[in-house]
Amino acid sequence: MTTAAFAWQNLHALPRPGLAELFHHGEARVAALSARLALGEGAITFDWSKTHLDAAHLAGFEALAQAMDFDGRRAALFAGDIVNTTEQRPAEHIAQRGFGKDSAVEEAAALHARMRALVDAIHSGVLGEVRHCIHIGIGGSALGPALALDALARDGAGVEIHVVSNIDGCALEAAMARCDPATTLIALASKTFTTIETLTNARSALAWLEAGGVADPHGRLVALTAAPERAVAWGVDETRVLPFGEGVGGRYSLWSSIGFPVALALGWDGFAAMLAGAAAIDAHFRDATGAANLCLRAAFADLYYTHLAGCQTRACFAYDERLRLLPAYLQQLEMESNGKRVDVNGVPLAGPSAPITWGGTGTDAQHAVFQLLHQGTLDVPVDFIAAIAPGDDLDPAHHRILLTNCFAQGAALMAGKPSRDGARAYPGNRGSATILLDDVTAESLGALIAFHEHRTFANAVLLGINPFDQFGVELGKDIARQMEKGGAHFDASTTALLRAAGLG
Ligand code: F6P
Repeated sequence: MTTAAFAWQNLHALPRPGLAELFHHGEARVAALSARLALGEGAITFDWSKTHLDAAHLAGFEALAQAMDFDGRRAALFAGDIVNTTEQRPAEHIAQRGFGKDSAVEEAAALHARMRALVDAIHSGVLGEVRHCIHIGIGGSALGPALALDALARDGAGVEIHVVSNIDGCALEAAMARCDPATTLIALASKTFTTIETLTNARSALAWLEAGGVADPHGRLVALTAAPERAVAWGVDETRVLPFGEGVGGRYSLWSSIGFPVALALGWDGFAAMLAGAAAIDAHFRDATGAANLCLRAAFADLYYTHLAGCQTRACFAYDERLRLLPAYLQQLEMESNGKRVDVNGVPLAGPSAPITWGGTGTDAQHAVFQLLHQGTLDVPVDFIAAIAPGDDLDPAHHRILLTNCFAQGAALMAGKPSRDGARAYPGNRGSATILLDDVTAESLGALIAFHEHRTFANAVLLGINPFDQFGVELGKDIARQMEKGGAHFDASTTALLRAAGLG
């Protein structure tokens, strides 16, 4: 038996005390499992005390981490070694934040300088008046900018950004309806510069500029890509191509030139603050050992729920309107990274990999889906994410009620409530974790995202999988391409659907 299999066997054999029992010494438990991590300004509290982790499980998962060479894999990530083995690449998102191989850090700094120069030039009017920017990208080339802008640019921005991802023309039409072609820039964001949705949307946006009287539509185009030569061949002027390294994964690319619209909207200092917040988590993740490492501790809880408790999903509720796009961002980060069925050697996994990540915003979700969380037959571990400082200037009652509801849900899931009437009984003993930001700032958002990146990496190491490839998305794309081309044969159901839509 391998040492990892032995560690799993021990973990499965451990008694699993309920939360009520674990909270007999509640204050000591909170002191042990809740930590405040300082940032340049303010801090983030990571409270994992309402999860089912106890000392025995922490030790058991630490043994698993040792068996999976967690320290070695983490060191490899920070050394810039090839950790994405199926694609023979390092994972260089941390280089954007100053960590990793010197050459990668230097390259990232040089590319940031180029990006900053273009942002500053646009702000100083080199491209004429720019009031709007339509940022076109999909997946990792859209979700990060959309989240950051929705969280941080609510009070107005130097340039108003409209993120368009879907190929459904309704998305681009809605953005174009809010812009004036004469003062609009198009940011074409695609790591590969081959994504059909993005290139089709970009072509339509250029046609819209032309129809709107812009003499040189390509002159209003900025490309954000790891394939600069393709961008130039596509017609983007080299001076407005902002490259990033091939080692930066799509869903990890917010920190690279994919963050261009964030810098354009917030100014360079805002973007730099986001990088600094992420760097604070990088330093913690690199240096903290065992369960004191908050990203690793979170991964321990994740695996407790999927492997030991049989949970198939994990929910994340942002009790803050500014973070309403966080669940969608985490869905790609976690499911595209760790939704795998084989290990790094191509051997089928013995147990589950990533659970389904889902979620929404509080308090809205309380009035929609929380019924199942409290009384359904499925057990769903929940992350609550909130900020102490309000984002609004209204009556403080708004934020007070928001926070008390957030904390009440975690308390209710844990405590439950007995009743002789089954329909009115709450079983309780349902685990949750709470991430409490002092405030939603560029720095704390950067830290929050980087925390989840490293949590995802830690999960992958413990599972023995490669979180940096995503071959699972290719088959559907191939079939769609065959349909576009015509002439191929499909199953009877698909053929009938194509015919029904007038496409076959
Ligand atoms: O289809 C999945 C995917 O490759 C994601 O991994 C990526 O973030 C997205 O598509 C967009 O890819 P690109 O940035 O190359 O257009």
